[in-house]
Amino acid sequence: MSIPTIDTVHDWNAIRADFPLLSREVHGKPLIYLDSANTGQKPASVIDTVDDFYRHHNANVSRAVHALGTEATEAYEASRTKLAGFLKAHRDELVLCSGTTFALNLVAYSWALPRLKPGDAILLSRMEHHANIVPWQLVAERTGAKIKVAEIREDGSLDIDALYAAMTPEVKILGLAHVSNVLGTVNPVREICRETRRRGIVSVIDGSQAAPHRALDIPSLGCDFYAITGHKMCGPTGTGALWARREHIAAMPPFLGGGEMIKEVRFEGTIFNDGPHRFEAGTPNIAGHIGLGAAVDYLTAIGMEAVEAREAELLAHATEALTRIDGLRILGTAPEKAAVISFLVEGAHAHDLATLLDLEGVAVRSGHHCAHPLMQFFDVAATCRASFAFYNTHDEIERFAVALTKVRRLLG
Ligand SMILES: Cc1ncc(COP(=O)(O)O)c(C=O)c1O
Repeated sequence: MSIPTIDTVHDWNAIRADFPLLSREVHGKPLIYLDSANTGQKPASVIDTVDDFYRHHNANVSRAVHALGTEATEAYEASRTKLAGFLKAHRDELVLCSGTTFALNLVAYSWALPRLKPGDAILLSRMEHHANIVPWQLVAERTGAKIKVAEIREDGSLDIDALYAAMTPEVKILGLAHVSNVLGTVNPVREICRETRRRGIVSVIDGSQAAPHRALDIPSLGCDFYAITGHKMCGPTGTGALWARREHIAAMPPFLGGGEMIKEVRFEGTIFNDGPHRFEAGTPNIAGHIGLGAAVDYLTAIGMEAVEAREAELLAHATEALTRIDGLRILGTAPEKAAVISFLVEGAHAHDLATLLDLEGVAVRSGHHCAHPLMQFFDVAATCRASFAFYNTHDEIERFAVALTKVRRLLG
């Protein structure tokens, strides 16, 4: 198959060269990193920003009046503004936190726990990551609410009719991935949120796998909450954010108590900070979030539309290359799909495939991908998953296919 070149503006080889790690070798072979859905690689500008913070500006935020304290606070808050711009949101709607897991737990404990009653239901899709399942189970146990499941079709797309049919009056919350980390399925969040709003259901969208790969305008999606994680979008680990509608931010009690989240503390009672700051107790990941600001600058300079187009090209190529391999089955063939390919090879265990691919320099993930209910649906214990980012190349895809053919022969 010839791959159409649809992008004459970007020099993708030069962009790839911004990522120092991608030039290393593994087991004596050039690294082919196909695990970006797990965590993304970091451009030098992000690494340098974190390094620069610790070398020249390190201080705590919002506490000290000295020069370093002011510099740290300004840089940290500038990152909130940048991230808000990236998501087309307002900075007062963004709670900075350690990532999607924290963000979803914050909604579960702060918004849902005080509101849910016995008999209420939380609707979750079959394709959710454990981070958008387990917090809801914990809250359901404590409130007497129950979990309902919205099923998927064989191709890994959400069964929209079944989803709407499942939105019965007892459903108070919908937890939904924007993009599946296993199947790559892109869910029609805007359309679904129109329906949740009509029915008074609060929508909690897990955007972990969407924010790194597509241009987002979160307020226009019509959801109530949207969670993202920084390490999958070129940023440092332990960073991320919860976007929440202002009315929710104002109505939610704090989740964690401590420094930073208060206006005044007396033993008789505490007055909490306004806005997102009252969910940000304690010293945050300052350097990490400043690094995330640099990641946002980096992605913005490339342009998320270009990222999406580049990754669509890589997905088309990789899908075609893998279907050349005998006995290989792709799980997840929904029409709207991000650059993630889960696959199985007849007669080979996913872990053996991944181990042997590693010896060829190819990093893929194997396992359940924190999605046990999805594995149950496909009746498999594990899959191999190759996930791509704009910094991957067509040449890497060809070399991946050659390595997989070799590995398949070894295991066959
Ligand atoms: C869809 C999805 N949701 C949630 C998470 C959890 O993200 P984090 O571990 O950064 O909190 C991940 C990470 O793998 C994910 O892919």
